[in-house]
Amino acid sequence: MTYFVGGAVISLSLVDKVTDYENSLTVSEREFYGIGQTNNKQLFVMRNNKHKVIAETFLYQEYKQKNGNTFVSFHPKEIGFVEFDISKRSKNIHISYIKVHPEFQGLGIGKELLAYVESYGKEKGCKTATLDCLSTYTDGVSTLVFRKEKGQNDTLRRMKERGKVVDKNMKFYIGAQYHKQNNRKPQNDYLTPMIKNKLCYRMAKVTNLLSQIHFRLARHAFKTIKLSQKDFVFLHKVFSTNKMLEPTRIKGKQL
Ligand SMILES: CC(C)(COP(=O)(O)OP(=O)(O)OC[C@H]1O[C@@H](n2cnc3c(N)ncnc32)[C@H](O)[C@@H]1OP(=O)(O)O)[C@@H](O)C(=O)NCCC(=O)NCCS
Repeated sequence: MTYFVGGAVISLSLVDKVTDYENSLTVSEREFYGIGQTNNKQLFVMRNNKHKVIAETFLYQEYKQKNGNTFVSFHPKEIGFVEFDISKRSKNIHISYIKVHPEFQGLGIGKELLAYVESYGKEKGCKTATLDCLSTYTDGVSTLVFRKEKGQNDTLRRMKERGKVVDKNMKFYIGAQYHKQNNRKPQNDYLTPMIKNKLCYRMAKVTNLLSQIHFRLARHAFKTIKLSQKDFVFLHKVFSTNKMLEPTRIKGKQL
């Protein structure tokens, strides 16, 4: 069984609704869209305009009315976003802010958002991605967002005395192959400038249900289709040579 993040069991009719919803959005709300998967295999949708990627889940509820009819409600719900700017001249995509809403953190959504925005940058001709990391220390109990404010050095020292402390944001970016960038000044002196030198298209993690939906970012509206194994092999060949954005590019062995 596949769920949307914190939402409904996904059926093909629900997928149709989601696709219709995405397709109905204006260009300023959606240029591309694609599917992400959390660590526990729940699905969500990511869509972007020229400055922002939004990750959203879909809540779907059915109510039985007194007269026996079924009443259905369908709500998109934002679970995270990334803001960015592309510099065509320096072929760089700068990520100005990334956020996953607190109740959805630690599920792999941030990682997917980052991969998506990098794919978008690559599609637009970028070679590198940069960002300024805001160190956020955690000892598993408390969290310290480090802005070099008064007393924060002492708080950090006390946390370290009590046990192991991890900078979770730094770990997040290093895990995504970013490293410190020495030749750029960050927006604020408490931030660490970071860069990723080689952008890649995002690989598909999604297999089962998505084989019945769609598996790459879509610029244009399209209908839900049910694919056979044969179609898959064919489409894989097409997509592995296609230059369009393929953030859910399918690995041969997953077919
Ligand atoms: C930073 C942020 C976007 C990460 O998103 P997320 O969905 O929680 O992160 P993911 O679940 O994709 O985690 C990816 C990696 O980050 C690291 N990470 C994330 N949360 C962590 C935590 N609490 N402790 C340690 N490492 C952590 C891990 O390396 C993890 O990899 P793993 O799952 O293989 O262990 C999110 O925590 C957030 O919105 N924070 C508040 C806003 C913010 O600080 N933005 C960044 C400004 S620079």
